[in-house]
Amino acid sequence: MKMPLADFTMAYEDTGRGPPLLLIHGFPLGRRLWRPQLENLLGVARVIAPDLRGHGDSEAVPGPYTMELLADDCHALLRECGVDQPVVVCGLSMGGYVAMAFARKYPEQVAGLVLAATRASADTTEGRAGRDRSIAVAREKGVEAIVDGMLPKLLAPDTLAQRKGVVDYARKMMLMTSAEGMVGALEGMKTRPDMTEWLRNFGKPTLILHGAEDEIIPPRDAEALREVIPGAALQLIPNAGHLLNLEQPAIFNAALRQFLRSVTGADEQPQQLH
Ligand code: MLT
Repeated sequence: MKMPLADFTMAYEDTGRGPPLLLIHGFPLGRRLWRPQLENLLGVARVIAPDLRGHGDSEAVPGPYTMELLADDCHALLRECGVDQPVVVCGLSMGGYVAMAFARKYPEQVAGLVLAATRASADTTEGRAGRDRSIAVAREKGVEAIVDGMLPKLLAPDTLAQRKGVVDYARKMMLMTSAEGMVGALEGMKTRPDMTEWLRNFGKPTLILHGAEDEIIPPRDAEALREVIPGAALQLIPNAGHLLNLEQPAIFNAALRQFLRSVTGADEQPQQLH
């Protein structure tokens, strides 16, 4: 589906029935990241999954795409979809940065937060220099160079060696991101604020999910999140890298279902696959 917003047209999925669940993908991915969740959660939640601006089938516009701007896009999409009640917001990696920006700006619209493969801290000086190098690569060599540089670090060694279908799926999805979209997101991530102090007082149910073999954001960053968020639960998922929801969908889905049930009281229904 496509939704015209203020300055671009956003592609998104809106499927299933039940309490609303917003799924926000990472960089440089798209709503297709959530295929295993879109299939599995149909019976328990209304799942809304956008392609962030410049990603997937959404239009690219000039950046920077600050995390707050991307959160505003998600908020506008929910409004256009007629969702004004609190939602469970689940974001992976950059999607986690956007989820935190959303929860900070629109706390009344958040029932709970799922932070997957993400971190609270801002970029270090070295991290910002890395963003500048990636921006130059995206501009000068194009998206394929970024994708080929990132892909080996995105997935656990077993996934890379044995699950060609997952590797090809991730690669194809990343190649849908435009160079302008990549640059906009990199510029936005580079200036994102540290969310640690805000998280200490956030006060809503939070689940942290992280791949035990994540090379892009190491598990110690998930442990740091758990330390600052009162009452947060952390589940480290074995045999999973940065794309844990694609690599270990059964474990990820079970954790998400249980969280949805505890936060929204949604009744578990028999699983339906269409
Ligand atoms: C992502 O996977 O969304 C990004 O790699 C996160 C980041 O670069 O900080």
